[in-house]
Amino acid sequence: MSYGLLKGKKGIITGALDENSIAWHVAVRAHEEGAQLLLTNAPVALRLGRPKALAEQLNAPLVPADLTQVSDIANLYDEALRHFGGPIDFLLHSVGMSPNVRKGKPYTDLDYDLFQKTLDVSAISFHKLLSIGRQKAALARGGSIVALSYIAAQRVFPKYSDMSDAKALLESIARMFGYFLGKELGIRVNIVSQSPTPTTAGTGIEGFQSMYDYANKMSPLGNASAEACADFIVVLFSDLTRAVTMQTLYHDGGFSAMGVAEELLK
Ligand SMILES: NC(=O)c1ccc[n+]([C@@H]2O[C@H](COP(=O)([O-])OP(=O)(O)OC[C@H]3O[C@@H](n4cnc5c(N)ncnc54)[C@H](O)[C@@H]3O)[C@@H](O)[C@H]2O)c1
Repeated sequence: MSYGLLKGKKGIITGALDENSIAWHVAVRAHEEGAQLLLTNAPVALRLGRPKALAEQLNAPLVPADLTQVSDIANLYDEALRHFGGPIDFLLHSVGMSPNVRKGKPYTDLDYDLFQKTLDVSAISFHKLLSIGRQKAALARGGSIVALSYIAAQRVFPKYSDMSDAKALLESIARMFGYFLGKELGIRVNIVSQSPTPTTAGTGIEGFQSMYDYANKMSPLGNASAEACADFIVVLFSDLTRAVTMQTLYHDGGFSAMGVAEELLK
C-alpha cells in the first residue's frame, strides 16, 4: 500500500546488490511512496549483482561508486545534482564489508590492513558521503539520512569481529554529523539497527543461521524482515519524523530490550 509519503522527494540509495539486500527493499518502497531515486553501488557489484535490473524496474539512473573513494563520491553527487536539478532530500547508507570476516580472521588476531579496509568501507564511507555531500551543497534543507547498523555495536557477538568496531564508529559518525547537519540545514541523521537478515553481507558472518535463530526466539515479535525495515526507513525519510535525529533506532522485534527468553531457557 502506498501513502504518498515521499511524493516530490529525491534521494540516493546505496548498496542494493540483489533482491535480498535491505537497500533493494528500501528502493522499491521509496519508489512506491512517490520518490525519485538514484541508485549507486561499487563497480564490482554492478558486474556481479543485479543493480541494473533494479534501476530499470524503478526507472532510476545507476551510478557506479566505490564509497571509499572521494573522487567516486564527488562524481556521484555531480550526477545526482545534474539528474535531479538540485539537492537530495534523503540518502541511505547500506554498505558493509569486512575482509577479516571474509578470511575467517578471529577478532583477537586481526590483519590490520584489512581492519582499516573494514572501517573504511563500513563506517568512514558514511563520513565521506556526508562530508562531500555537504561541501557540494547536495543535501537539501530538512532532509533525512539513514545508515544501517547492528546491535554488535553495543553488545558482544564474537563472530561479528571487527564489524562490531565499524558499526560503533558508524553510529558515532551519525551522531556527530547529526549535530552539524542539524544545526546548519535541519537535516536528520539516524541509524537503524536491524535484526539479522539473510542477505549476502549477513550470511557472510560465520554462524549466521544460529544467530538468526537465536535472535528470532529472543525477540517477542520475531526477527524484523528486510521488507519491514524498508517500511520503517521510508517513514524516517518522510516528514512524519521531522524531529527525530542522532538516534540509534532498534528495528529488531524487541531483541535489544530483552534479558532472557523463557523459550531459550527451556
Ligand atoms: N544482513 C544483516 O543481518 C544486517 C543486520 C544489521 C545491519 N546490516 C547492515 O545493512 C547494510 C546492508 O547490508 P545487507 O545486509 O543488505 O547486505 P548486502 O550484501 O545486500 O549489501 C551490502 C552492500 O554493500 C556494498 N558495498 C560493499 N563495499 C562497497 C564499496 N566499497 N562501495 C560501495 N558499496 C559497497 C555491496 O556491493 C552491497 O550492495 C550493511 O551496512 C549491513 O552491515 C545487515
